[in-house]
Amino acid sequence: MLRPPRLRDARSWSEIRLRNEQWLKPWEPTAGDSWAERNSVSAWASLNSALRTSGRRGTMLPFMVLYGGRLVGQLNVSNVVHGALRSCTVGYWIDDAVAGRGITPTALAVAIDHCFGVVGLHRVEVDIRPENTPSLRVVQKLGLRREGFYQRFLDIDGEWRDHVAFAVTVEELGGRSMVSRLANLPPQPTWRTRT
Ligand SMILES: CC(C)(COP(=O)(O)OP(=O)(O)OC[C@H]1O[C@@H](n2cnc3c(N)ncnc32)[C@H](O)[C@@H]1OP(=O)(O)O)[C@@H](O)C(=O)NCCC(=O)NCCS
Repeated sequence: MLRPPRLRDARSWSEIRLRNEQWLKPWEPTAGDSWAERNSVSAWASLNSALRTSGRRGTMLPFMVLYGGRLVGQLNVSNVVHGALRSCTVGYWIDDAVAGRGITPTALAVAIDHCFGVVGLHRVEVDIRPENTPSLRVVQKLGLRREGFYQRFLDIDGEWRDHVAFAVTVEELGGRSMVSRLANLPPQPTWRTRT
């Protein structure tokens, strides 16, 4: 299940984030403070507020990912642009304890359907470091198209990191939902990434 963040997510969110430092840090934006500081229970209030403000402005759709009623991760639809572009970028992470169960591909499929439906967007992009094999598998499972290679694109874990861009537009779903595509997609070749 996907739902918006709440102030009372603080304790669960912080517990997962602190326990998953080694798992998450290589894929997260560079920050000036320590992992413990920026993922403490008290750090959540300002992050929650920033996420909700961006959500209200319509520049972002912040989601918490729940599995069996328990908080297990986040999926953020960012860089939401309307007008002629009608596009967005999606980022996600999940608790190592529940990795490998197909939770993120399902969450991403639900989010894409929401973006193409209620939000009225035309294109969804996911940018992934070439080294991030699990995340490359996520977009492969949904059949996202490899669109390009961005050199030194994002400041991640202390360095400007190359990213592979994947995208899907409404037309590529041929009137189907991404959730149904995920359920029925035939096996795909492994993505080859340029370095
Ligand atoms: C990328 C990520 C969100 C995938 O979430 P997920 O819910 O585990 O996705 P899936 O269940 O589809 O698993 C994807 C692949 O991860 C790999 N995987 C599964 N369990 C794993 C584990 N415990 N440790 C490492 N890799 C694992 C497998 O290769 C799997 O592919 P497979 O189903 O073909 O075997 C998750 O690995 C994660 O949070 N990683 C750290 C943060 C991150 O990389 N975010 C994305 C930045 S672009």
